[in-house]
Amino acid sequence: MCGIVGYTGFQDAYEVVINGLRRLEYRGYDSAGIVLDRENASFDVAKTKGKVDDLVAVSENLSGKSHVGMGHTRWATHGVPSDRNSHPHLSNNGKIALVHNGIIENYDTIKIMLTEKGFTFQSETDTEVLVNLIQFFMDMDASLDFPTAVRFALNEVYGAYAITVMHDDFPGVLVVARLGSPLAIGLGTNEYFIASDASPFVEFTKEAVYLEEGHMATISLEKGVDIRTIKDNEKIVPQVQELKLSLEQIEKGGYEHFMLKEIFEQPKSIHDTLRGRLLVEEGIIKMAGIWDHLDRINKAQKITIIACGTSWHAGLIGEYLIEEFARIPVEVEYASEFRYRNPIITENDVVIAISQSGETADTMAALKMAKDKGAFIYGICNVVDSSIARITDAGSYTHAGPEIGVASTKAFTAQLTVLSLIALKLGKHKGNLSNQEFMRLITELEAIPKKVEEVLEKTHDITKEIAKDFVNAQNFLYLGRGYNFPAALEGALKLKEISYIHAEGYPAAEMKHGPIALIDENMPIVIIAPKQGHYDKIVSNVQEIKARKGKIIALVNKGDTQVSSMADYVIEFPETSECFSPIVASVPLQLLSYYIAVYRGANVDQPRNLAKSVTVE
Ligand code: F6R
Repeated sequence: MCGIVGYTGFQDAYEVVINGLRRLEYRGYDSAGIVLDRENASFDVAKTKGKVDDLVAVSENLSGKSHVGMGHTRWATHGVPSDRNSHPHLSNNGKIALVHNGIIENYDTIKIMLTEKGFTFQSETDTEVLVNLIQFFMDMDASLDFPTAVRFALNEVYGAYAITVMHDDFPGVLVVARLGSPLAIGLGTNEYFIASDASPFVEFTKEAVYLEEGHMATISLEKGVDIRTIKDNEKIVPQVQELKLSLEQIEKGGYEHFMLKEIFEQPKSIHDTLRGRLLVEEGIIKMAGIWDHLDRINKAQKITIIACGTSWHAGLIGEYLIEEFARIPVEVEYASEFRYRNPIITENDVVIAISQSGETADTMAALKMAKDKGAFIYGICNVVDSSIARITDAGSYTHAGPEIGVASTKAFTAQLTVLSLIALKLGKHKGNLSNQEFMRLITELEAIPKKVEEVLEKTHDITKEIAKDFVNAQNFLYLGRGYNFPAALEGALKLKEISYIHAEGYPAAEMKHGPIALIDENMPIVIIAPKQGHYDKIVSNVQEIKARKGKIIALVNKGDTQVSSMADYVIEFPETSECFSPIVASVPLQLLSYYIAVYRGANVDQPRNLAKSVTVE
C-alpha cells in the first residue's frame, strides 16, 4: 500500500529517491518522506503530510547532498496522515531510519515492552515500534552488527511488511526485508536501487532481483547484495531477472491522466491479451496455463472465483461465461469474506484468483487457505511474478501492461478477455460448443479490440458532453441484466471511487424490489441495453424509470430506436455477442466516470483514501 524507494551509488540520491517516489505515488499518497545518509554527519530527514510535491517543497535543500538514501510514500494504516506519522521513522538514538509498507500486527505488545525499557514514541505508527526494536537489540549487545539486529527484530514481529533500513554508523548499507509486501532490488553498475516495484529504476538498469517471501538482503557497494532467510540466516543465491518494463509504459504519454491513457490503451491491451492465444485461422485457443491442466479443471466439482473490487466484478462475468460454456458450477466470493468463513473447498475444486496487482492481501490469504484445503489454484494476474502469480498452481497473465491510475480500467477488460478465452477453451474441450459455434465466438472475440477502438472514437466526445450535465449529481444508479449486470456494478464503482458521487449498481429487474423508491427527476440512471441480452425486458425497465421521471443515460447498440426514444442521453456502442458486450460497454462507462470526476476537479489518478495495491487487510 505504501511505496518504498532506496538508493546507494554514485548519483544524487535525492533525485533518484524523489523521482522514484513520484512513480510509486499510485501506492499511497497521503504523506511522503526521505532520509539521506552522509559520511560523518547525522541523517538528513524531511517528511510531510501530503504528496511528493509537498515533500519536495520542504526538502529541496537536500538535493545534491548524498549518494545514499531512501524514501516513502504512505497510505495510512496506523495513525492519521500527519507529519509525525510519515515515514521514515527514526530510533530513539537517532541512528536507525526505517521505511515500511505493511502492518506489524503485534506492535502493541512490543511497544509496551519497549516503553517499560524507557523507549519513547513520537508517532502512532507500528513502524516506529519496529525501528526501536532494532535499536533495542543493538543496545543489548554492542557487538551485534546492523543486519543481524534487523533480523532479530523481524523474528519478533508478525504481520506483513516490506522494509528498508539504514544505520548512521554503517554508511552506504541498506538492509531490506520482505514478508507479504513486494520489494525489488535493481542491479546497476556501481549502484543499487530498491523499490516496491521496478518502475523507479527502469531507466537505470534492466536487471533486478525480486526479494522472495521471508527473505532479507544487505546491500552495499562494497559487498553487493547478500540475501538471507529472515528466520535462519541461510544464504540465498539471487535470481536475477531481466525487466521487460519500458519507461514509455509508465509515463503519461501526452494524456492528462494515467486513467485516460489506460482507457485509450484498451484496444492494444486486449489485443495483447489475445495475442498468441486466440488462433482463429487454426480454430484453436492456445493457453499454456489451461492446456496443461484441462482435465483437472474440466473435472472440477466446482470452481470458486476469489477476488476484490473490480477484479471481483470481472469474476462475476467469469461465472456467467464459465457456467454458460463449460457448464461447471461457479461461485464468486469476496476474498475478504471467503478467508474468514469456513467455505466448503475440497481437492476436487478449482479456485481461480483474479488480481491486477497480484499483491492484494485478502486475495492472497484466501488463496493460501484454498491451497491448504487441497484445491487446484489458478491465477489471473496482470503483474508478472507477483506474489499471487507465484503461489498458484497454474495461471494466465492478462498482459495489459502496467496500470498506474488507481481506478482499474484496462486490467478489467483484460481480465474479461482472459476469462472469455478460458470459458471458450473449457467449453470446446468438454464438447459443449459445436465447432461452428466455437468458430463464431472466437471470430467475434478476435474483433473485440477493433470494436473497442471504434467505441473509444465514437463515444469520447459524447461522454465528455454528457458528463457536464452531471457534475453536481449526488447519486447515480447503474442498471444492467445478464452479463451486463456486473458491468453495471463496475460502472458504479468507477464513478464513486474517482468522483465521490454515491453510485449503486443493480440488476435492472431488481430495481422494483427497492431502488425504484429512489427514482425521481433528480436521479440519473445509466442503463446498459445491448440488442443481444434480454433487450425486451430492459425496455420494460426503461419504461418504469421513464414513468417516474428518472434521467436516463442509455448505452445501446448502433441503430437502436426503442430504448433510445425514451432515453434522455444515448451512447451507442457496437453490437457483439452478449457474453463479450461488457468488454465493449465498459469503455464509455469508464469515460463517463472519468469526465465527471475531471469536471468536479477530483484527482482522478489518486482518488482520496484509495491506493492501487491493497497489501494490508
Ligand atoms: C477499483 C480497483 C479496486 C481493485 C481491488 C483489487 O478500480 O482498482 O477495486 O480492483 O483493490 O485489486 P487487485 O485486482 O490488484 O487484486
